[in-house]
Amino acid sequence: NRRDFVLRLPVISTGALLGASTLSLTACGGVAYLVPRGGDGEMAVAASEVPEGGALVQGPGMERPVYLRRDDDGAYVALLARCTHRGCQPDPVGDRLVCPCHGSEYDLKGSVLQGPAEEPLTRYPVRIQGNDVIVLLRGGAR
Ligand code: FES
Repeated sequence: NRRDFVLRLPVISTGALLGASTLSLTACGGVAYLVPRGGDGEMAVAASEVPEGGALVQGPGMERPVYLRRDDDGAYVALLARCTHRGCQPDPVGDRLVCPCHGSEYDLKGSVLQGPAEEPLTRYPVRIQGNDVIVLLRGGAR
């Protein structure tokens, strides 16, 4: 929507110019947005840029961001922030992702806590390469 576009435009432009991931805070709940490097089905961000509460990572051309965070056991979890009910963007709120459209809620691993959504969020495999966290966009599964 227009609000999301206006909020993300400076981040996307800056990231494109620098060719590197760029950290920016949005007004929406203080969640960090990162612009990744990459292409060809992968996107990379520096592990040091992923804050404790996670970040929304969105490259040019992506309809919805990926919510990337480090779990309690140290493993990274990458979830497509696209509600499986009708496609709105759930926002990280405390220990869950809450969809603003019809109230679905997911836990931080993508499982449904509250409907109307019935399917979990799409989860992508993640690998660590040097100081980078690589999200493998072709390997998404529910
Ligand atoms: Fe998310 Fe309907 S689109 S609850």
